[in-house]
Amino acid sequence: MPFHLVVPAAGSGSRLGGEPKQFRLLGGVPVLIRTIEAFLSVRGFEGVVIAAHAGQVGRTAEMLRSFFGDGSFEIVAGGDTRQESVRRALDAVPDASELVLIHDAVRPFVTNDLVESIVDLAKRRGAACPAVPVADTLRRVLDNEFGETIDRRNLWQVQTPQAFRLEAIRASHEWAARTGLIVTDDVELYQRHVGPVVCVEGDRRNFKITDAGDWELAEILVSGGKTT
Ligand code: CTP
Ligand code: MG
Repeated sequence: MPFHLVVPAAGSGSRLGGEPKQFRLLGGVPVLIRTIEAFLSVRGFEGVVIAAHAGQVGRTAEMLRSFFGDGSFEIVAGGDTRQESVRRALDAVPDASELVLIHDAVRPFVTNDLVESIVDLAKRRGAACPAVPVADTLRRVLDNEFGETIDRRNLWQVQTPQAFRLEAIRASHEWAARTGLIVTDDVELYQRHVGPVVCVEGDRRNFKITDAGDWELAEILVSGGKTT
């Protein structure tokens, strides 16, 4: 089924520090380019809308042009939150497009198989999202002291791409903007405004590059496992 991709890439990467992580080179290729490349060969891919920081729209366009030529990408100025960046990008998706996938710019290791299963399920069930079961013991920490242990059964870590019917996710964002609700992902908006989302078992390699440890792991993965 044809789909459009939305990539929020307007963050500042404060936890990793330095150059915003979507522009950093991983094995010589910017993270954002690697992430978009992961979708290009998926059946049904029709185009991508990227939300870049308002001051980096020109730079992002130039970078994309140098890798993909004048292909089917569009860039919009993002907002102060991920949610606002996604909302603005959704506005730029062609109205005729039925299905939209929303994927973090900083998850470059997403596989073709995972994207295809998300597309397939969203087509049949309206909305789908990958997640992986929590593996470690979960415990609250306050002032460096352990508190309550949280039962991890049924707890999953949520990933992207998250797939929805374009009209439904746009309506969810408009509703949230009207009510002033700000949440961390699109599944939550959809669940609150439209209904249930199907969970697909994701892939631990599809992690979000967030801090220095994630960056080191990403470098090891692109180098084929060589650490020197
Ligand atoms: N993002 C965005 N607009 C924002 C904030 C985040 O488009 N105002 C994007 C990021 O570029 C990233 C994705 O949302 O692709 C996930 O966000 P996160 O990992 O939190 O990235 P940053 O916000 O850049 O990092 P940090 O929170 O450490 O500052
Ligand atoms: Mg952030």
